[in-house]
Amino acid sequence: MENKKLWGGRFGQGAAEILDKFNASLPFDKKLYKQDILGSQTHAKMLAHCGILTHEEAQKICVGLEQIKSEIEQGSFEFVLSDEDIHMAVEKRLTQLIGEVGKKLHTARSRNDQVALDFRLFVLDSNRNLRALLLELIATLLEIAKPHTQSILPGMTHLQHAQPVNFGFLMCAYANMFMRDFERLESSYKRNNFCPLGAAALAGTPYATDRFFTAKALGFTAPTLNATDSVSDRDFALDFLYECSMIAMHISRLAEELVLWSSYEFRFITLSDAYSTGSSIMPQKKNPDVPELLRGKSGRVYGNLLSLLVVMKGLPLAYNKDTQEDKEGVFDSFETLELSLRILKDTLKTMSIHTDSMLKACKRGHLSATDLADFLVQNCNIPFREAHHITGKAVAYAESLGKDLSELSVEELCSVDSLIPQTAHQSLDLEKSMNSRNSYGGTSTEATKAQIASIEAWWNCALAALQNSAPLDSTTPYKES
Ligand code: ARG
Repeated sequence: MENKKLWGGRFGQGAAEILDKFNASLPFDKKLYKQDILGSQTHAKMLAHCGILTHEEAQKICVGLEQIKSEIEQGSFEFVLSDEDIHMAVEKRLTQLIGEVGKKLHTARSRNDQVALDFRLFVLDSNRNLRALLLELIATLLEIAKPHTQSILPGMTHLQHAQPVNFGFLMCAYANMFMRDFERLESSYKRNNFCPLGAAALAGTPYATDRFFTAKALGFTAPTLNATDSVSDRDFALDFLYECSMIAMHISRLAEELVLWSSYEFRFITLSDAYSTGSSIMPQKKNPDVPELLRGKSGRVYGNLLSLLVVMKGLPLAYNKDTQEDKEGVFDSFETLELSLRILKDTLKTMSIHTDSMLKACKRGHLSATDLADFLVQNCNIPFREAHHITGKAVAYAESLGKDLSELSVEELCSVDSLIPQTAHQSLDLEKSMNSRNSYGGTSTEATKAQIASIEAWWNCALAALQNSAPLDSTTPYKES
């Protein structure tokens, strides 16, 4: 059997059939068709700009590529496994469509820099898409936070009642995590926005090309500096996979809160019917499958990061076929997060929030204990360790009465220790307790409102940065008011 591959010149025999299946990336890299066609059109224009092709030739190539794009989009393009990858599938079709001139497109480039370009463009597009979705999620968290800066619930450490906080404050905590995720993506976008096309196989090209022309036309900051590095490393994809892992981790933490909060033990929220599922055997059940899946998806996203780290470990310069393994994990992490971020946002938007159960939960666990101790320190000149001990006695006394500390009467409280004045009773009030934590970044209603305002200021800068590809000034939320 004669070898019909585009690279088949030096081969007498065709490849074994099973090899096509093993070797080909076409089944998954066809997803890169848009990037591939845009890259090729830009390359053809650059070749014409430099006098390597005529303008008519470049024009013919661009029109042919445009037709291929519509064939792919209309589903009439025939993908053949033996074409190996999207780059060769497109090039072969181009020559079928426009004849010999199609064979000139691959002048002064190689598949090595071609795939490095296509994949990098995909990663950068995905980076921007995730940032837009993060902004929508942060806006949703703010929307929920705003009417709940006075909704008191138990703040926890070790999943034990610790101090009263407000619900808006907790939403702001998550907003801050997603803000950093946005900033991480933004910083790697800036670092990786350099064009590898023109690096050719590994060492550059003898043709008098203009890599700055290509880079500019494709929206990159500049061409990459070193040809061998350009075709060999995949750190730009690893940056992205790491950033995806961090987002997945934050999503999974918030999802876990939703699972807990929607249980009968908490009942702080109820998930909307549209975002929960039933049990096939227990008719009464409404399960939080959606947040559970949001939590569970982190597994595959972390896995994709680790896989590519292992693929890249120890690879010598320059291009190695191992790197063909870089794509599926990135596609999967992006698609997983794109869906997860949308679903998380909708789940949050549609849940109902039960401030009465939150307040009721505050009556368990002696949340105002720290406040009583602080009161004794601040007003009675009692050293903190001693105040801590006296408060401990008050907690034990309340428990012996079957009450929460906040439910003790003035008399009951004063009976615990002669050092406790009547005025100490006011420190047990939950709302006062929450509002007493008025330090910068604290949970008081006032401090929470200030945080919301800062996040909003950040959000507006982040949106402008995303729209204009301008750098974000991440000091925005930290300005002193
Ligand atoms: N399908 C290949 C990949 O994804 C394209 C580059 C192939 N280059 C080569 N010299 N075999 O990495």
